[in-house]
Amino acid sequence: MSAQLLTAYAITAGYGRLDILHDVSVHVSPGEIVSVIGPNGAGKSTAFKTIVGFLRPRTGHVVFNGEEITGLRPDLVLRRGLAYVPQGRLVFPQMTALENLEMGAYTVEDPVRIAEAFERVYALFPILFERRHQKAGTMSGGEQQMVAIGRALMTTPRLILLDFDKLVAMKRAGYTLMVVEQNAARALAIADRGYVLELGRNRFEGAGTALLADPEVKRLYLGG
Ligand SMILES: Nc1ncnc2c1ncn2[C@@H]1O[C@H](COP(=O)(O)OP(=O)(O)OP(=O)(O)O)[C@@H](O)[C@H]1O
Ligand SMILES: [Mg+2]
Repeated sequence: MSAQLLTAYAITAGYGRLDILHDVSVHVSPGEIVSVIGPNGAGKSTAFKTIVGFLRPRTGHVVFNGEEITGLRPDLVLRRGLAYVPQGRLVFPQMTALENLEMGAYTVEDPVRIAEAFERVYALFPILFERRHQKAGTMSGGEQQMVAIGRALMTTPRLILLDFDKLVAMKRAGYTLMVVEQNAARALAIADRGYVLELGRNRFEGAGTALLADPEVKRLYLGG
């Protein structure tokens, strides 16, 4: 267990009195890419929101980097090195790409670390450097995703929970990741391990390639 970077164990959580997640467990080891797939409404985003502290689980534990973070506020979770890129294009539209990235570094005090973070983000997404003075709201959908991811990377996180694609570029850059990716086949092809959630429960888990080859996973989730 202690070798895991993140362990979410037996999480039950939801909205108001309605439980969405029932006893969900996931874990991520350092250096791994882990994909979470499952039908719309399965609870993927809810699981991420619970892990990073936007929702408090009714039962279960979240342990990150050896410390319990269950119910910890999202900004404190971020300070510990667990970044979250929500689903949807959440940029500040009236601010430039550069200003959006600066916002991402609000928890970082050391200007040297901030400069290094800018370098890393621009190396990963060169278009963001070219367009750094453009208002984020006028950028293309893909570019806005890059801004949102870049913003999360400004804290130099140990783990990134990514609630949409851009998986290939991130894998190449060597980040530890747990992702929700709408294209399930692509997500599993690139992942070290994967989880299939259904109706808020763990349904399958295993190596990405094994899940891809599993006839039942194929039939139920990969359309074939
Ligand atoms: N703020 C909320 N209040 C009440 N119910 C919610 C809320 N957010 C999500 N839900 C419900 O929780 C269930 C799981 O939603 P969630 O967003 O976690 O699914 P998902 O697996 O991320 O789906 P998708 O693939 O469409 O992004 C859905 O039935 C959804 O309607
Ligand atoms: Mg979702």
